[in-house]
Amino acid sequence: MRIAVVGTGYVGLVSGVVFAEAGHDVTCVDHRADVVERLERGEATIHERDLPEALAQVRRAGCFRATTDLDAAMADATIVLVAVGTPTVNGVIDLSQVEAAVRAIGTRLRDRIDPVAVIIKSTVVPGTTDTHVRRWLRESTGRSDDAYGLGMAPEFLREGEAMADCRYPDRVVLGHEDPVALAALRALFAPWQCPKLEVNTRTAELVKYANNCLLATQISAVNEIANVAAALGGVDIHDVMRGVHLDRRWSPVLADGTRVEPGILRFLEPGCGFGGSCFPKDVQALYAKGTALNLPMAVLRAVLDVNAAQPARVAALLQDALGSLVGKRVLLLGLAFKPGTDDVRESASLRIAESLRDAGATLLSHDPIAMSHAVSATPSLALGCVDNWRDALSRVDAIVVATAWDEYRALSSPALRHRVAGRVIVDARRMFNPTDFADAEYRAIGFTPPPAARRAS
Ligand code: UGA
Repeated sequence: MRIAVVGTGYVGLVSGVVFAEAGHDVTCVDHRADVVERLERGEATIHERDLPEALAQVRRAGCFRATTDLDAAMADATIVLVAVGTPTVNGVIDLSQVEAAVRAIGTRLRDRIDPVAVIIKSTVVPGTTDTHVRRWLRESTGRSDDAYGLGMAPEFLREGEAMADCRYPDRVVLGHEDPVALAALRALFAPWQCPKLEVNTRTAELVKYANNCLLATQISAVNEIANVAAALGGVDIHDVMRGVHLDRRWSPVLADGTRVEPGILRFLEPGCGFGGSCFPKDVQALYAKGTALNLPMAVLRAVLDVNAAQPARVAALLQDALGSLVGKRVLLLGLAFKPGTDDVRESASLRIAESLRDAGATLLSHDPIAMSHAVSATPSLALGCVDNWRDALSRVDAIVVATAWDEYRALSSPALRHRVAGRVIVDARRMFNPTDFADAEYRAIGFTPPPAARRAS
């Protein structure tokens, strides 16, 4: 099947390469000439595990190319996927990139004889495809709906795991408004055997938002309870959640007595809040859509409020241990919004850095791959980036672990014991246990020592 993909961000590039691996012929289109040139040289333009090798392989096989020329990309294509950005501007989804892409596609369909399916892959709020996108296509093609197909297939990939998520999806959602789109989507996903949900486009759109909003809701709920645990003192949220998760409605007991541990329990970890390019913007966008429909949207409002306040809990934990932070030197470990990516969009680490700066602390920061992005994203913030975090340990009063990069596990190793001795460690991602640091003062989201022990220290 010949496919054109408009947009070469995380979704467009990764899914384009994976569709090519699966046997389709893919042309990715982007108006950024530098990005297209790099892709044409076989260079991965985003940091994603396994992508460079897969890109090289599909280019060698001749089934993947990139271009700025939409006409060339659409020639012979039976399906065009729209995978451009949908940022939130002033709390509301900005569809301008989707509109520009759809109108550009539409003008190429004016005289097209064979029916082409136009499929939205960008995350758009429910009701977008069958209203706005339909209108943009009608206007730009000058034709009625039966001259082309209209569909929506949301993407569920996680940054850092994008290739694996795309290669082995949990399910695919085939949102369609007509038989042309449904037939094209069935052919597109024919190489996959996973569950396939065939629904209308507004259902497909809401599946995507419901998925992210419910995950974000669980994160904020567990973070709120973690804050209660830390305020009480002498309670570890890990022990609390272990007790909760043994409820058979979370982890079902099979006939032979063994327990099924649902994946959500591996995902959920009390911490300094969710970030990235998806959860914050998607919760905000569905909240805005609901309020526009005159719904109270009280839960999603609270999810956002808890998340916005969560990074500041780190400064509070440090103040609890150190008193005033004025003049204190703090090493911030991790700037990316999660491990496995150099993306710092909406990263809780950067909010932590701001609140520490506001409290008067001097910062040193480290990230294995996201330091340059963090510096460009926060020009007014003195991050004090260091290349070697191990060397920096002995120069600070406190250490904050803000992104769960594997290399930071070494913090509790015997080799670094003398460097962390006497310092306060705030574990904002629950990478460690309270017993891991014999000579340092350990605090975490969801854990502080009992009040009596704190007074003695
Ligand atoms: C998320 C979803 O997990 C994907 O299914 C979805 O396709 C994607 O958004 C999207 O809409 O495109 P992603 O943003 O890459 O994927 O990252 P996640 O691994 O879900 O993490 C999101 C944020 O939540 C990170 O900042 C992470 O640190 C945070 N998080 C996660 C917590 O704060 N606590 C947790 O318990 C789990």
